Amino acid sequence: MTQIKIFDTTLRDGEQSPGVNLNQLEKLEIAKHLERLGVDVMEAGFPASSQGDFEAVKKIAETIKSSTVAALARANKQDIDRAWDAIQYAQKPRIHVFIATSPIHMQDKLKKTPTEVIDIAVNMVRYAKTKCNDIEWSAEDASRSDLQFLATIIEKVIDAGATVINLPDTVGYTTPKEYGEMFRYIKENVPNINQVDLSTHCHDDLGMALANSIAAVQNGATQVEGTINGIGERAGNAALEELAVAFKIREDFYPYSTNLVLKEIKRTSDLISKFTGMVVPGNKAIVGRNAFAHESGIHQDGVLKNTQTYEIITPALVGVQSNNLVLGKHSGRHAFKDKIDQLGFTLTEEKLADAFKAFKQLTDRKKEVTDDDLFVILMDIQTDV
Ligand code: KIV
Ligand code: ZN
Repeated sequence: MTQIKIFDTTLRDGEQSPGVNLNQLEKLEIAKHLERLGVDVMEAGFPASSQGDFEAVKKIAETIKSSTVAALARANKQDIDRAWDAIQYAQKPRIHVFIATSPIHMQDKLKKTPTEVIDIAVNMVRYAKTKCNDIEWSAEDASRSDLQFLATIIEKVIDAGATVINLPDTVGYTTPKEYGEMFRYIKENVPNINQVDLSTHCHDDLGMALANSIAAVQNGATQVEGTINGIGERAGNAALEELAVAFKIREDFYPYSTNLVLKEIKRTSDLISKFTGMVVPGNKAIVGRNAFAHESGIHQDGVLKNTQTYEIITPALVGVQSNNLVLGKHSGRHAFKDKIDQLGFTLTEEKLADAFKAFKQLTDRKKEVTDDDLFVILMDIQTDV
């Protein structure tokens, strides 16, 4: 098994989700959950972006002990100073410096030539290195950059002291094959690449963030960046809980492991959803409300006989208390009786038939029947002796 490091950026890229604005206490609580979840690195924020973010990153750096705490900085001295001021007291600090390397970003956004971009990147990595030993360098928009240019700049920033090289698919444009090939090219064409961790950072604009991240790992990436619940800029980032559980469930196929404590996933996800206000879609893999729910009678019957008929993940593995047999119009008598037993009611065959009839009538008016609804039905039946 190859150990893959998990770099969580929920508190930085995740907070860049439109409409999300976490206060210091919320960021700190999320950081504690992330540490308990076992992330190797947490990017606590972008200290140069605001005084509030600076304070929050500083507090997190002073509190978190086992995860590396990273702070983001553009490739300029002011940002790097601000990042270092915020994280210098962390047990394991990391400065994360980035600059764009794609033609469109260099020409139209930075208004710099490729040679100027190399100079800035090298000088700023060198500068950051005078403060902190652990320096991550990101080639923003790497997936739309020229491969030869990428190889050249990467070799130079490693010589300047970078310890991690991150190649983001900043705009979520790449495909698994193309992104994997980029990692293979860099592994094969940058002579000093084995001195550093090679990292993937994917956005989900085309719904391929997870597949792209896995392709990068299969081609030499040793660090995966992403967020919990997949939140982040625009369509979001790769969802780390999906990656870790996919590696675990398909370890026959993926010889990779992570340090994530899987049973912490659900409560971490719930907390982040609550604090960010970003509701997790019901059908979201691993953490969605319906991820372990079975609605159709055929599925419910199968799961009651053997959970593995329709469940590839045990809910307890990710901290979900039990599977959830949602009672709706497709539910059968078997699932209904099971639920009644769970609620602690013992009914005669006749009463059970009456209750089932009342339940079916209710499903014509209501999509999902809750425990409270069942209590009403059952109490009606009990009083009708
Ligand atoms: O998507 C991106 O390119 C980023 C960088 C700042 C790492 O978030
Ligand atoms: Zn990003």
